Amino acid sequence: MSDSIVERVVLVGFMGAGKTTVGRLVSHALGWRFVDQDQEVEAVEGRTVSEIFAETGEAHFREVEDQVAQRLLGQKGLVIGTGGGWGAGSVLAALPPHTLSVWLRVSAEEAVRRTSVAADKRPLLATEDALETARMLLAERTPFYRVAHLEVDTEALKPEDVSARILEFMANPNHEMEASENAIT
Ligand code: S3P
Repeated sequence: MSDSIVERVVLVGFMGAGKTTVGRLVSHALGWRFVDQDQEVEAVEGRTVSEIFAETGEAHFREVEDQVAQRLLGQKGLVIGTGGGWGAGSVLAALPPHTLSVWLRVSAEEAVRRTSVAADKRPLLATEDALETARMLLAERTPFYRVAHLEVDTEALKPEDVSARILEFMANPNHEMEASENAIT
């Protein structure tokens, strides 16, 4: 895997996994750009994620989210903090070459705790029982997130340590991926 040079990093995982916090740290360490996919979607649409869901529905949000992703995946030297639903399709198996995917793992309980401070960005959790909804969504999505090249637990580690783990993996992907069939190139 001599040509396994990473040109972009894609962070996936459930709402509240810390994709933005960790993404900023990793991009800073690499001297790369950090791009928040939700913010890009909001810029394209000129309204918030919650407004898009309420006014035109989730299906429309998913279309724009995917268009944004395709544009970003054509660029180099960036860390992409994806929306929690994007990496839960078959997208990770079809990433362009030189794209490192990282699943930031979080439990439903911790996700609900962390997201309650920015609830308006997460219309999917605005249900009567947010924890039950989170558990159900996480169970559905986990098989998709698992396809990522690297998995990091965000509850046992501080964001700085999660970032360090990703950088360490990038410094030696060949060694770490010997046993994996999911190549970066
Ligand atoms: C979503 C996650 C949100 C946002 C939207 C839908 C999801 O992003 O894209 O509310 O389906 O999990 P975060 O993962 O950044 O919270």
